[in-house]
Amino acid sequence: MPSFLVVEVSIKTYSEEEMVPKNIPYDYNQKKVLLREVSRYIRDHKVSSLIDIGAGDGALAIPLARKVKKYVAVEENGKNVQKLKKAGLTVIKGCFPVPVSGKYDLALVSHSIPETTELYKNFLYTVWTLLKKKGVLLVVTFKGADDELASLKKELQPGFVDADQEKFREMMSILSSFSVPAIRRVASTITSQKSKNLTELLSFLIGRTKKEREELYPKLERIVHLRYKTTQGYSFRTHHLFIFAQKQ
Ligand SMILES: C[S@@+](CC[C@H](N)C(=O)[O-])C[C@H]1O[C@@H](n2cnc3c(N)ncnc32)[C@H](O)[C@@H]1O
Repeated sequence: MPSFLVVEVSIKTYSEEEMVPKNIPYDYNQKKVLLREVSRYIRDHKVSSLIDIGAGDGALAIPLARKVKKYVAVEENGKNVQKLKKAGLTVIKGCFPVPVSGKYDLALVSHSIPETTELYKNFLYTVWTLLKKKGVLLVVTFKGADDELASLKKELQPGFVDADQEKFREMMSILSSFSVPAIRRVASTITSQKSKNLTELLSFLIGRTKKEREELYPKLERIVHLRYKTTQGYSFRTHHLFIFAQKQ
């Protein structure tokens, strides 16, 4: 059994961008919170070189790049590569693992860990080689968070198996073979003014097909009213795990 530390923190943040349909109005500040958290780490640990794997469209990458002396992005999506390059960032275009030169204080894998466990070993081993001595690998992920969304899925989808738990175990097993990882659990909140919007959002996140979403809708409507009503509308918490592993 791998050993790791868990530190609970509660920070208001929002859901993963690509998880939700664009036409549902909801309040969303995930990038802002991720930026705040990673920036704090960079400042507190005097990080001067950063390799950002799966850097995205720049919302996080561009401000992060300004906080370090040396920043390199690895990104496979052509449109995102263009945006990053336009902002003057150094970008390696390709699907990691790809050749990267140099050694870094921090390797960031934020919501870009592969979806299949078969790819984990090669991916994580290669990231590890890019770290300086005392350098840190930071994986930010929803996998393994076992949060309210996972518990709703268990409640509403008979036979639901949380595949992310297996992915989390595999990830932790590999990281634990490198060092003793530390985990910060960061609470997220999706907020909407109307219950209808949160219900739609949750039916999208939980239902796998249109038919399943339609069947879930009335149940979720009741759940949203009963559990997620707040003085400012409706809010739903999800969690990110910030997994840190330091190279000795
Ligand atoms: C969900 S976005 C996260 C962006 C940013 N890191 C963040 O946390 O806001 C994932 C990004 O990683 C990129 N990506 C995923 N797997 C990758 C890989 N193996 N190599 C390079 N880019 C990858 C995708 O193209 C996408 O732009």
